Amino acid sequence: MTRPNNAITRYTAANRVNHWITALCFVLLTLSGLAMFHPMLFFLSGLFGGGQWMRAAHPWIGIVLMASYLGLIIQFWRENLVNRDDVAWMKSIRYVAVNDEEHVPPVGRNNAGQKMVFWSMTLLVPALFFSGLLIWEVYFGAATSIPVQRVAVLVHSLAAIAAILVWVVHVYAAIWIRHSVRAMTQGYVTPGWAWRHHRKWLWELASEQHDKAPPRKHP
Ligand code: HEM
Repeated sequence: MTRPNNAITRYTAANRVNHWITALCFVLLTLSGLAMFHPMLFFLSGLFGGGQWMRAAHPWIGIVLMASYLGLIIQFWRENLVNRDDVAWMKSIRYVAVNDEEHVPPVGRNNAGQKMVFWSMTLLVPALFFSGLLIWEVYFGAATSIPVQRVAVLVHSLAAIAAILVWVVHVYAAIWIRHSVRAMTQGYVTPGWAWRHHRKWLWELASEQHDKAPPRKHP
């Protein structure tokens, strides 16, 4: 679809490329991780050219995910800082759940749910990365003891389960709120979308525009 004239940019091209690299790495890591997690899921290794290729590729994809998510942290941390609106949003969660947005207080650029996804991943991705390094046998096997590796495997698995659950919530919310996906594919939203889902953000943008506008000449 062509971008309407009154479209509002929500994500820049850099934001979007960074996001989709993160998403791709996450999906590949989930598939290969699950294949290594349980024999019933080992058939997924076929997607990677077999078990050995998959086991070799998994940690490298993890490095790309860590670097890529660091990019998202740098770009988005500021807009995910918690404020009073988040408390009000959480209190109205029962209205959010039934799509009764008229009873949900207006929020800024991100709502408390989005912020929770952001901060959970900010905790979980580094947890997966560092516990993963400890169990990367080829390079760090000799440097880590068996008891340390046992704890690291446990932390890695628990963090992976938590991250997959957070990811499911994130993707569900992205599909549930119509036209959110377009914000992350084409970069823009309509003023109507912003009014409905992020009203304070729209007000902020409108007041910025107002401040930038040249003073009106009175006749
Ligand atoms: C294939 C799966 C994914 C889909 C379909 C998806 C979809 C989306 C969409 C539509 C948005 C925009 C939401 C809005 O502006 O209202 C978004 C934002 C975002 N996504 Fe994803 N995403 C996926 C995977 C991931 C993964 C794996 C991560 C992190 C590890 C992630 C982290 C983020 C972040 C940080 C934002 C910015 C907004 C915020 O701070 O919450 N996404 N995603």
